[in-house]
Amino acid sequence: MVSRSINESVLSHFSDKNKHKVQIHSCDLSNLEQSTQFANKLIDSTRIDVLFNNAGLLTGDLLENLELDKITATLNVNLNTPILLTRLFLPSMIKNKFGLIINNASVSGEFYFPCAQVYAATKGGLTLFTKSMQLELKGTGVNTLLLITPGIETKMMEQLKEDYSKHMELDFLSQTIKPEEWVDQIMKSVDKDERICYPSGSTRVGLFLNRHTPKMFEKIIMKKFERNKNS
Ligand SMILES: NC(=O)c1ccc[n+]([C@@H]2O[C@H](COP(=O)([O-])OP(=O)(O)OC[C@H]3O[C@@H](n4cnc5c(N)ncnc54)[C@H](OP(=O)(O)O)[C@@H]3O)[C@@H](O)[C@H]2O)c1
Repeated sequence: MVSRSINESVLSHFSDKNKHKVQIHSCDLSNLEQSTQFANKLIDSTRIDVLFNNAGLLTGDLLENLELDKITATLNVNLNTPILLTRLFLPSMIKNKFGLIINNASVSGEFYFPCAQVYAATKGGLTLFTKSMQLELKGTGVNTLLLITPGIETKMMEQLKEDYSKHMELDFLSQTIKPEEWVDQIMKSVDKDERICYPSGSTRVGLFLNRHTPKMFEKIIMKKFERNKNS
């Protein structure tokens, strides 16, 4: 597991539950050089069968209000580093004729809201990257799993509510699920060897509406958006 912070309680949670050996490494995945060095060290010492690009950053404001550093960090953590890590880990997976690359995208890669432009660009990019890789990897023994992740009750959701409420009514966000529920769905997709894990329930209906009646979806969303709210 990789993150910037090292949380020992997470480590003991996994070690106790599954009796697997779990290590947490500190690496800033927004820094491409640091990420490359970290990955190369790992490749030299460990066989990698599964790469789960899960780390993510959220942006949620008018574009002109976003700091350039935040934009760059979000592009790197959500899109550039997953591409970089896939590129670095892939040769040994192909050599072993075995591997799985799981990319955590988002419904925001399909929906588009005001104030979500940079986040949506990274998740839309990650979605197409994953779909394209799946075709390219056909017959190699290496596969991809794309997660079209819905609203999950994590720290990111707290941040989303705070950031987006500056310009939007958030009543359409009531359909959030617990992380454990989403993990169950991901594990089912892994067991069934699926290539895409979609959310169920009303989020799935929303995806359908967005795809097939985009004008109606846009109308609903634009009723929630106010550029000059609070000013
Ligand atoms: N929650 C949702 O509603 C939702 C919806 C759709 C998609 N997703 C996606 O699901 C994934 C997990 O998000 P979450 O909801 O669990 O968010 P979260 O609670 O904010 O957790 C984000 C994780 O990413 C790590 N991270 C962030 N920046 C990093 C960096 N520069 N280097 C290394 N690690 C970094 C964080 O660890 P440190 O802070 O310690 O670095 C943390 O472990 C993300 O890709 C997110 O986009 C979430």
